[in-house]
Amino acid sequence: MSILVTGGAGFIGSHTVVELLERNEKIVIVDNFCNSSPNVLDKIRDITKKDIKFYEVDLLDEKNLEKVFKENDIEAVIHFAGLKAVGESVEQPIKYYHNNITGTLILLKLMQKYNCDKIVFSSSATVYGKPEHLPIKEDFPLSTTNPYGSTKLMIEQIIKDVCISNENFSVAILRYFNPIGAHESGLIGEMPNGIPNNIMPYILKVANGEYNTLTIFGNDYDTHDGTGVRDYIHVVDLARGHLKALDKIRKEKGVQIYNLGTGKGYSVLDLVYMFEKVNKVKINYKIGPRRPGDISACYADVTKAKEELGWKAEKGIEEMCKDAWRFIIKQSKK
Ligand code: NAD
Ligand code: UD1
Repeated sequence: MSILVTGGAGFIGSHTVVELLERNEKIVIVDNFCNSSPNVLDKIRDITKKDIKFYEVDLLDEKNLEKVFKENDIEAVIHFAGLKAVGESVEQPIKYYHNNITGTLILLKLMQKYNCDKIVFSSSATVYGKPEHLPIKEDFPLSTTNPYGSTKLMIEQIIKDVCISNENFSVAILRYFNPIGAHESGLIGEMPNGIPNNIMPYILKVANGEYNTLTIFGNDYDTHDGTGVRDYIHVVDLARGHLKALDKIRKEKGVQIYNLGTGKGYSVLDLVYMFEKVNKVKINYKIGPRRPGDISACYADVTKAKEELGWKAEKGIEEMCKDAWRFIIKQSKK
């Protein structure tokens, strides 16, 4: 039987595919390359020395997605495919609701039809809105401030309802904190299209001279240096969390929800200074106004994932900065 990985050519998906292949799991990838490229699949082959079964299919294309279920015996789905740019989701909400929600509904419908009853879903810490306390626990109140976040919250609800309707169903909802870094080989990493929204891709573009200056969004937050604090997690640690979640839902039915973070918060300036120190490059920055919708600090309570999945992040902020930069350097040498 195979694991279907939707969005397996993307940033987190590709790193998870590597971990799955290294554990000898049989996998099938579906991606439409709307935010990734076919050469990622070659890089995965280079790293793992294994072949990959791949379908270039859009989740919205039910007919061709059904072919994937017909031609493969799918045991479980790891569902990464989705659009993720917060700003774009505010400008084009219909595109986001359609892609993320309709895509998931079609996927769930086919899972039901082909008796596939296990799914790991990529949710986000964004579903906690503006948390009243820190660190954030899984049972904190949920809310969102933009269409992207709303799609995550709605999909969580849809999956929970499917689980109620089918007692054989098992689900792991993984709420990621801030994934950064890259595979240590330097062959796969984060390649956002257009102007990056997130901090690390922006730092990388300043480091390689593509952009002049990083604008830090506010230095008047109630944090140790006034800049926003986040829980950055190495993408390889995050990927490994999916394998643990898969093990869990193979054994247990129902809905399991886990925060995947390190439990530690770093400010924007902490991250910039660490990047400069470990990579010996200068990051020009200036302080700008706060970004609308930002919260001052966000980090996870990771006790539940540790106790129930036996998972915890192993890689520190130094390694995240080093690996992210190694990937960019390797790209530029091609
Ligand atoms: P990504 O954009 O790199 O990967 C998503 C992949 O899904 C891409 O390869 C894209 O081409 C594919 N895709 C999108 N819509 C599709 C569709 N309709 N049909 C087929 N393929 C489709 O993003 P990522 O950073 O790897 O994120 C993976 C998941 O994790 C997303 O659901 C995202 O919302 C979620 N997430 C990401 C972060 C983050 O900071 N990166 C944080 C929290 C949650
Ligand atoms: C953002 C999204 C969130 C999403 C998450 C992961 C917003 C408002 N929130 O969260 O919904 O789940 O990405 O994809 O977009 N920063 C700068 N300068 C920059 C970029 C960022 O100072 O050019 C700061 C931010 O203010 C923040 C920190 O860096 O304090 C991290 O930002 P980012 O990487 O965008 O992640 P989040 O804000 O956590």
